[in-house]
Amino acid sequence: MAPIKVINASLGRTGTSSFCEAMDILGYKCHHMKKLLADPTYETSKPFYEAALNRDEADWDKVYAGYDVTTDFTGSYFWKHLFAKYPDAKVILTERPFEEWFKSMQNTIYPVIRSKIQYEPDHPRYALRQLSRTVVLEGIIEDDDKYMNEDFMRRYYNNHIEEVKRTVPANQLYSLKLGEGWEGICKFLGKDVPDVPYPKVNSTAEFNKKVSQTRARNEAIAAAAAAAAAT
Ligand code: A3P
Repeated sequence: MAPIKVINASLGRTGTSSFCEAMDILGYKCHHMKKLLADPTYETSKPFYEAALNRDEADWDKVYAGYDVTTDFTGSYFWKHLFAKYPDAKVILTERPFEEWFKSMQNTIYPVIRSKIQYEPDHPRYALRQLSRTVVLEGIIEDDDKYMNEDFMRRYYNNHIEEVKRTVPANQLYSLKLGEGWEGICKFLGKDVPDVPYPKVNSTAEFNKKVSQTRARNEAIAAAAAAAAAT
């Protein structure tokens, strides 16, 4: 289905999951890293990881086959390359104040990325784990000298937004403020306003509940595999 029609260039924890659901409601096919996590084989992570290792050479039509909207940390890590490849795409910034975003990061993505879990290269989850470590804040999340320096992070966050605003022509760019709803984005994309509320998902509490459920599931799978190996 590529080419990409809409690029959300914002970092994760800015309402990207709700945005992705909203795009699907409007008839697009949106890609979010959640879809990689939901793949039980984790095979679909591999093209994204390969693209992250070499953005200049990536075959974007292939990487995003079946999708026409990008978002989440992959979307923000790839946004400039995607916009160069699809210069007619519309670009969205899902925006929220730095302080709210940083608090949300601290309570969700940070502990997950910084958990001590490591996988060997032949493990099914290796590519997804390495992809996350590469794209989430371009690896800065693992550099405490930078990540724990709130002034540095404020500058990083705001510079990212400013770079998008400098690069994308104003008529191709829309800033969707977290919580604002359908009206503005539908007008920008030339779509009718749907008769369902704008999605509101992936709060800190929801995120952490899913992380616990995934951990329990993985532990159960590992325990079953160990039991089977012992018999
Ligand atoms: P909190 O972590 O502060 O609860 P993402 O999907 O990019 O990870 O972003 C999730 C964050 O956006 C969560 O913030 C979530 O509550 C917030 N969010 C998502 N949809 C929203 C909406 N429609 N209105 C307000 N906040 C929303």
